[in-house]
Amino acid sequence: MPIDHVLKLYSESIRSPYLHYGFWDEPEKIDPKKLTLDDMVQAQGRYIEHLATYIPEDVKNILDVGAGIGGNSTYLLSQGYEVDALSPDEYQESVFKDKYAGKVKFYRSKFENFDPDKQYDMVFQSESACYIEIEPGWKTAQKTIRNGGYLLASDYFLHHNDGSGDWHIKASHDERNYMDKAKEYGFKLIREYDQTENTMPTLDGAKALLERFIFPTVEFSSNYLDKNHPFILKVIKKAFGKKVNDKMKQISLLNSSDFKKYKRYMIYLFQKVDPS
Ligand SMILES: C[S@@+](CC[C@H](N)C(=O)[O-])C[C@H]1O[C@@H](n2cnc3c(N)ncnc32)[C@H](O)[C@@H]1O
Repeated sequence: MPIDHVLKLYSESIRSPYLHYGFWDEPEKIDPKKLTLDDMVQAQGRYIEHLATYIPEDVKNILDVGAGIGGNSTYLLSQGYEVDALSPDEYQESVFKDKYAGKVKFYRSKFENFDPDKQYDMVFQSESACYIEIEPGWKTAQKTIRNGGYLLASDYFLHHNDGSGDWHIKASHDERNYMDKAKEYGFKLIREYDQTENTMPTLDGAKALLERFIFPTVEFSSNYLDKNHPFILKVIKKAFGKKVNDKMKQISLLNSSDFKKYKRYMIYLFQKVDPS
């Protein structure tokens, strides 16, 4: 995988070292229409603080899988852990090189294809589990984690599939299948937390920002072209019309009630069971 341009766009526009949803301690008190990008970046900081409380005391070294642009690795280092990072993305590799100058070893690889040269106390997957194929992912986890070590996954999982082919269904792992494979590869679930409600204000806030800034800008540009350069508008519609329609359908991913209908945003702590 060379570069994930959507993730690159998030990192450059939001200017946050994180690529995850963030965590809101009191979601019921949030008015999404009043959220700013700074609020969201702060919630992202809170997400890693909360997630790190799930790391057991006997963990010293961590492989940050799907490490993004390094916000989580920086936090884990600040808490005294030894951290290596992994991602298949070229851009993220260059960010890590600039940020850490070799202090964090970076492996550019899909987790499924990773061939570890050592075993870790913990594999840490912050919103990257859904990108990793289920069975090959557990297979790699088995050889990457020491006996008694852990896999901490924080991600959304599909709990309901009505066969509608909704975007939410396409973009996540089936929870039951994920759990069955965990067991099959020797991983026992020892802690869990449903953080769906704590993560939803980010979706509602992103939708509100889109409705406030992006949609009016697109409408203005389209009206302007229609009035002054109708031929250019026609060419643009012909070239990009279908792609734009597909992207608009993907925007339904920002609908938190649809999210909850199909998915749960979970923290799962697994322990690798000693076969002896
Ligand atoms: C939503 S981002 C989360 C980034 C970071 N963990 C965070 O919490 O900010 C997903 C990450 O998974 C990475 N990724 C995508 N496919 C992957 C794979 N097959 N194996 C490992 N990482 C993958 C992406 O490049 C990206 O770094």
